[in-house]
Amino acid sequence: MSADNEPGDGATRHRARDGAAFEIQPCIDGAHHFTRAQWRAELQRGMTRLSPRSRWQRFASGIGQLSDRQLDELTDIDGTWRVALCAVVATGGDYEGIGVARYLVLPGTTDIAEFAVTVVDRWQGRGVGGALLDRLLDSARRSGLATLRGYVFPSNAAMLALCRRHGARIVAGTDFLQVDIDVGR
Ligand SMILES: CC(C)(COP(=O)(O)OP(=O)(O)OC[C@H]1O[C@@H](n2cnc3c(N)ncnc32)[C@H](O)[C@@H]1OP(=O)(O)O)[C@@H](O)C(=O)NCCC(=O)NCCS
Repeated sequence: MSADNEPGDGATRHRARDGAAFEIQPCIDGAHHFTRAQWRAELQRGMTRLSPRSRWQRFASGIGQLSDRQLDELTDIDGTWRVALCAVVATGGDYEGIGVARYLVLPGTTDIAEFAVTVVDRWQGRGVGGALLDRLLDSARRSGLATLRGYVFPSNAAMLALCRRHGARIVAGTDFLQVDIDVGR
């Protein structure tokens, strides 16, 4: 998997382990990014491309569809304190979302953000999650954050492997592991 040249507008080109091309870009607010309405639809469509296991690992519930309120929250970003990056593939002049990585700076702090990464099942294990987390860390670094914090089920081997690659500190909680990654300012 590799990041090639910058196609512009905050987007980077990548190749999956099997050579398939994808891009990572801010989800909205750019010339060729999704509008907020498109992104809402894309997030809802993405839910149908997640297996029950993936939905459970991401949302800790058997949720099938996102509610309007969840869509409001997931698309409420400002590019600094609330950031979302989309992995997309070009499909005949349009883009299809295949993954998303996000963070939200925690209330009462200025340098710790809670983060999550999700990749649709068909694209999992091909390097997309790793590329999304790399770019999310770049963004956090530029915003002066110190720590990205995630909550991961102990059985989520792929997410734990991703976090360990970045030297995460992992602390056991009741149901989840708390995973802290130093952003490395
Ligand atoms: C967790 C998730 C984001 C990882 O994304 P991905 O695109 O599948 O990950 P990658 O292909 O980049 O692989 C990441 C690492 O996990 C490893 N990995 C992938 N699948 C694995 C598996 N089933 N078991 C163990 N390790 C696995 C890879 O070898 C890689 O490790 P490396 O960097 O040391 O080589 C993705 O699987 C997903 O969306 N899962 C459902 C939602 C979720 O769990 N989100 C996390 C909650 S915050």
